[in-house]
Amino acid sequence: MRKIAVLTSGGDAPGENPCIRAVVRTAIGHKLEVVGIHRGYAGLIDADMEPLNARSVGGIIQKGGTCLETARCPEFETEEGRRTALRNLNRHGIEALVVIGGDGSQTGALKLHQMGFPVIGVPATIDNDLAFTDMAIGVDTALNTLLDAIDRIKDTASSHQRAFLVEVMGRHSGYLALMGGIAGGAEAIVIPEVETSCEELAERVKDAYVRGKAHFIAVVAEGAKPDTQTLAQHLSGRELGFEVRVTILGHVQRGGSPTAFDRLLGTRLGAAAAQQLIKGQKGKMVGLIGNKVVATDLEKVLATPKSVDLEFYKLAQMLER
Ligand code: ADP
Ligand code: F6P
Repeated sequence: MRKIAVLTSGGDAPGENPCIRAVVRTAIGHKLEVVGIHRGYAGLIDADMEPLNARSVGGIIQKGGTCLETARCPEFETEEGRRTALRNLNRHGIEALVVIGGDGSQTGALKLHQMGFPVIGVPATIDNDLAFTDMAIGVDTALNTLLDAIDRIKDTASSHQRAFLVEVMGRHSGYLALMGGIAGGAEAIVIPEVETSCEELAERVKDAYVRGKAHFIAVVAEGAKPDTQTLAQHLSGRELGFEVRVTILGHVQRGGSPTAFDRLLGTRLGAAAAQQLIKGQKGKMVGLIGNKVVATDLEKVLATPKSVDLEFYKLAQMLER
């Protein structure tokens, strides 16, 4: 093998830059040429790419986002789109690809692999919704960002004796809300994986007020049912003691300098992805399992739902007093 490529796809995640750097420098260390594809699968279809050397990935380890840019590319979900992408890979003499991204991106990677092109996936998504990795790149930084926000909201909530619904990202997963809620000392956590009714939450707010709490923070996952707006409508205008406010944290959770954990994770997984290709492996995703880097077949990864550990939910409930 002489030449490989790397791309980032889907929602960006802090730690993707350290990962790109590790892919590039590991591959160069093994005398391979490396091409960076811009804007994920969209760049593959448009042949938007550039050669990368060790210097091209200098000074990026501390930066959030992705220096290769990313995109959501519906065209790649079609057979025709993927054929165009394959043609471009072949035309540029690229023999293997590292795909850094979330579950959609890894699904795209599996499809390329099934078309006979060697691919290794690296999990990067703040949602932490990919199986066969304890943590995806970006989760730790996002958690720290949302914790900082929760701490700040708590200050103002206590000053005004208010209840806040703080909506956090995670798409269909409650991982960020659950871990952020526990680490932020929230009074309630609302996640898609556990049924919560509007009435139950209202009772808990009222009860917390009666118990003399200074504030009530409910961390609500964006995928929760009922959703934040429905919960807020139900709570507002009722005699709960606390006045109710809503904060939707949004994309602030995706940005920022990667934490030490995400830099190390990105670096380890990026190096492992390049090494897998060098060893002739393909169709796998590298992940972190019990602090060891493990490569698992993409097919198996994507056929396995990742569920949040409900022991953490029980722990949170025990501490919400
Ligand atoms: P993430 O990778 O962060 O989960 P998306 O779900 O938006 O983000 O997926 C990113 C991109 O991966 C999509 O825009 C598309 O190009 C590709 N992708 C997603 N699902 C598929 C699929 N079923 N087949 C082929 N490509 C896909
Ligand atoms: O998958 C990462 C994520 O940030 C989800 O948590 C969220 O639902 C989604 O992406 C937001 O997507 P966009 O950046 O396209 O608005």
